[in-house]
Amino acid sequence: MSNDSDRLVNAPDGTPEPYGDPSGMAAPATYDESHVPVHHEADPIADPGLPPHHWRPTDVDPKAEKRAERQIAAMFVAAMISALLFVVAYFSFEVGDNWDTFAGMGASTVSLGVTLGLSLLFIGIGIIHLARKLMADAEMIEMRHPAASPAEDREATIQALNDGVAESGIGRRPLVRNTMIGSMAVLGLPAVVLLRDLAPGDALDTGKLAHTIWEPGMRLVRDVTGTPILASEIEVGDLVNAAPEALFPTEENGYHELHGAEEQAEKAKGAIIIVRMDPDDLTPATQPDKWTVDGIICYSKICTHVGCPISLYERTTHHVLCPCHQSTFDLADGAKVVFGPAARPLPQLPLAVDDEGYLVAQSDFTEPIGASYWEREKQ
Ligand code: FES
Repeated sequence: MSNDSDRLVNAPDGTPEPYGDPSGMAAPATYDESHVPVHHEADPIADPGLPPHHWRPTDVDPKAEKRAERQIAAMFVAAMISALLFVVAYFSFEVGDNWDTFAGMGASTVSLGVTLGLSLLFIGIGIIHLARKLMADAEMIEMRHPAASPAEDREATIQALNDGVAESGIGRRPLVRNTMIGSMAVLGLPAVVLLRDLAPGDALDTGKLAHTIWEPGMRLVRDVTGTPILASEIEVGDLVNAAPEALFPTEENGYHELHGAEEQAEKAKGAIIIVRMDPDDLTPATQPDKWTVDGIICYSKICTHVGCPISLYERTTHHVLCPCHQSTFDLADGAKVVFGPAARPLPQLPLAVDDEGYLVAQSDFTEPIGASYWEREKQ
């Protein structure tokens, strides 16, 4: 390779600029006694050189340079504003049962996505603009070195990084530097705000899980067809996925129709599994004399770990397995946890039969359904 110092010329501001070898020719090879070609101070392949360098307007025109600075700063300021609007949007739109909508979509979701996306976009545009307009655009040549990394190389790398920072001009352009740092700092705010959704306490209404649509006398129905379930039709060993009758309103049963988020929430909270086993297998934890009907027992279908629906039942052991993280509950023993990360039993729904022999609830669940988190918070 030709020597680097032969390839450098000065840019308008004095920065060394590398250029190609105008001849593009390599030195000729000679031959030793074995007729193997030997190259003396020459490349085995001719150096093609570099194309002519063209100065950018911002390299030669101070006005263009200042204009580019202002444009980049404007991008970073726009990123800051977008991040702040994210925070405003987070607190402005209703996301509860009566959520605000925008063009048929959730206004909160749309506004959070748009503002966060714009903030990232403006930062990206600002950085690209900075690289294209203001950072040095000299062609860099790095000679090939041995793979080992001696201390001098590491020092050279650090020096190169420092040179890169110096060449970027960030130190000489406080407006760009400060707005860029500001835009990235403000970008942390949305992340902090989103953490609020993970917090217990007043941030969320935990009482919603303490009460479901179940009420005394409400029939248990099959979860797909809405058909009421006769106690006599469940065999020992059966597991039936069921739901509250109120979710299948008819003129006959008199329940009013639910819609939208309310319907989905009640469906999720009211989901149950019904099993029948030999009454002698039931332990006192299941309250066999009060809450079961001839060995028929009912539990919430929602895992108490983090809320997956459960229905993998093994009739010989009376165990039901959650497919998400393998929590296993013993349905004969009050749905106590026998394996896995769940921290408490599945809530039990007290059962009875009505005059026509259909299974009905004696009451709502006696404890919050869902993840253990809610129990700790509410009870
Ligand atoms: S959700 Fe059931 S074990 Fe994790």
